[in-house]
Amino acid sequence: MKVSVILGTRPEIIKFSPIICEFERLGLDYFILHSGQHYSYNLDRVFFEQLRLPEAKYNLDVGSGSHGLQTGRMLIGIEDVLKRERPDVALVQGDTNTALAGALAAVKLQISVGHVEAGLRSYDRSMPEEINRLLADHCSDLLFAPTVKAKQILLGEGIPESRIYVTGNTVVDALYRNLRLAEKRSEVLNSLGLEKRKFFLVTVHRQENVDDKERFSKILEGLKLVHERFGFPIVYPVHPRAAKRMREFNLKPKGIRLIDPLDYLSFLLLESCARLVLTDSGGVQEETCILRVPCVTLRYNTERPKTLEIGSNILAGAEPNVIVEKTEFMLKRRHDWPNPFGDGKAGIRITKILIDEFGENR
Ligand code: UD1
Ligand code: UDP
Repeated sequence: MKVSVILGTRPEIIKFSPIICEFERLGLDYFILHSGQHYSYNLDRVFFEQLRLPEAKYNLDVGSGSHGLQTGRMLIGIEDVLKRERPDVALVQGDTNTALAGALAAVKLQISVGHVEAGLRSYDRSMPEEINRLLADHCSDLLFAPTVKAKQILLGEGIPESRIYVTGNTVVDALYRNLRLAEKRSEVLNSLGLEKRKFFLVTVHRQENVDDKERFSKILEGLKLVHERFGFPIVYPVHPRAAKRMREFNLKPKGIRLIDPLDYLSFLLLESCARLVLTDSGGVQEETCILRVPCVTLRYNTERPKTLEIGSNILAGAEPNVIVEKTEFMLKRRHDWPNPFGDGKAGIRITKILIDEFGENR
């Protein structure tokens, strides 16, 4: 078996890391194909270093641009590499432009596609991620659904059951492997002068939130009100898309401490020690749920509805007063929900399925 691992962004590097580590442990024949969608040190290299991942064999350096430009460049570059390497299977993860381009390039070359984190749906087609995940699923031969709910969604869309495997989400594997390390190694609480359970953590980066001046301003206003109401420091590691928009729109957030994007261990430690997290990130909704830290999602829908059902998360949208109300509600809620995302062995399971399907050696 020869596998191509196609990745390009921060969450893909993190969520692929348990699978890559398992490939390394077993000495499998695989290579990493990096699209170059993320390229800043603190969105890319820092995760390879910290998670001790091998170098990508290829980096297409596509960089930033419109969806068409970025995805088109990736398609051309990925096709070229796949033609040269002829892997048995191309693995993609999640819902980014990289995942879509990888799945599309591979399926057209009649290379099997494996989609990690298949079957998530927000049912909001204005999100680029919804289109990406839907198309990636429908290009795939092996769909690694993190939950039974995700499997049901795929079955409902007519995908044959024989292609779907419920594996858990690799985000759990990555978190379990790294949390203790984070507690030992990261100095982030001291360096930011924060006390455990006495601060809020924020991440906001989604296109629909930050590319719209009015909506981004309202979210920042909501965060200011949260600070005034509850008195805790609010720390916001700012994603470069959000930083760019803040500059362009001349937004000057108040009551929020803006910092650069963090490395994984520091971010995990902050998440695990926060009193509450406000976010529009997919991965952060999952990680807070696993860590039993309450989460307020700054969106009107989520493709992780299980977090709402079990009570780890609530949707607040972008209205300032609603953000304050939902924060208050979550602060009062009990934190004893179960972890619905798996047992931390998703990477091992996915690797085993690949070996069963394609054999260990060619
Ligand atoms: C992408 C994904 C999103 C995911 C996020 C993870 C798509 C459609 N979106 O969004 O689903 O949640 O990654 O973080 O694939 N930039 C830098 N340095 C970088 C990368 C980007 O400065 O290394 C800036 C550029 O100004 C760029 C902007 O961020 O225009 C947006 O980057 P892009 O890759 O288009 O999308 P993300 O917002 O990162
Ligand atoms: N993350 C990080 N540093 C940060 C913010 C997030 O390491 O400053 C990690 C976080 O632990 C999670 C992942 O990045 O595993 C989430 O990525 P992001 O929010 O960019 O993308 P999404 O999950 O929304 O696609």
